[in-house]
Amino acid sequence: MTGSTGRVALVTGASSGIGAATARLLAARGMRVVVNYLRSSKSAEEVVADIEAAGGQAMAVQADVREVAAITNMVEQVRAAWSDIDVLVHNALIPYAVKSFQDMTWEELGGKLDAEMHSAFAVTKAVLPAMTAQGWGRIIYLGTGLSRRPREGMIALGTAKAALEQFARYLAQELGPQGITVNIVAPGPVESRIANDVFDDAQKQRQVAATPLGRLAHPDDVAQAVAFYAGEDNTFMTGTTAAVNGGMSMY
Ligand SMILES: NC(=O)c1ccc[n+]([C@@H]2O[C@H](COP(=O)([O-])OP(=O)(O)OC[C@H]3O[C@@H](n4cnc5c(N)ncnc54)[C@H](OP(=O)(O)O)[C@@H]3O)[C@@H](O)[C@H]2O)c1
Repeated sequence: MTGSTGRVALVTGASSGIGAATARLLAARGMRVVVNYLRSSKSAEEVVADIEAAGGQAMAVQADVREVAAITNMVEQVRAAWSDIDVLVHNALIPYAVKSFQDMTWEELGGKLDAEMHSAFAVTKAVLPAMTAQGWGRIIYLGTGLSRRPREGMIALGTAKAALEQFARYLAQELGPQGITVNIVAPGPVESRIANDVFDDAQKQRQVAATPLGRLAHPDDVAQAVAFYAGEDNTFMTGTTAAVNGGMSMY
């Protein structure tokens, strides 16, 4: 057991996929976990029930991370129930258009850039005062391999996440002196509902063939990297990117 017991972790978009796996793992490591979600209250409550059944502590909180007022309410709710937030995992997946640049409108590209950055900005602003006051904090953003290596149709996601990842590095530089680490976990393709929407079987096979470890990632693989950055085990890494991609691209 690490020294993370009792820390409060907020995982945005934790009702499914990587966020749900991360919530479960952080709770198994002794953190009290806020399972944020947008629409899937039943799934979020299932994640909470699983955590509690395993002896952990969790609460589901609905909030749209694109809305400042909703984020403020969520942080207040957590403070009233438990305490301030020590760990932020910003994972929520803001929907985006999958299409070529030539077919894309500015509203589609600009809308994704704005929603991605505005949500990261607002959630970070909301948790930062308590982290700086206590001189300790852990922030992890979910990036993607597509922010460095383009794939057909993914210009909106790849460009928005590239902005998010550079934002994270600037925060790492600014917040290091205050005891706050900021890191990025950048998965390759993950076996999830999105992968099923984005890939047909042949495309999935091509992704697997290009991956030395011979499969797509599971949400649990990604959660392991997030949990490392979130805990006391991470003593000296900030501004870094963990590529959880089975070796599909190496950098
Ligand atoms: N899956 C991949 O292949 C892959 C690869 C690289 C990076 N990533 C990144 O990993 C993260 C998670 O992806 P995933 O595939 O695990 O996603 P997912 O299974 O589709 O889950 C998305 C989560 O985000 C929540 N969400 C969406 N909009 C929200 C909003 N406005 N406010 C609050 N919550 C919101 C959803 O909540 P509700 O269901 O309640 O609406 C859900 O819990 C994303 O940042 C994604 O870009 C994923």
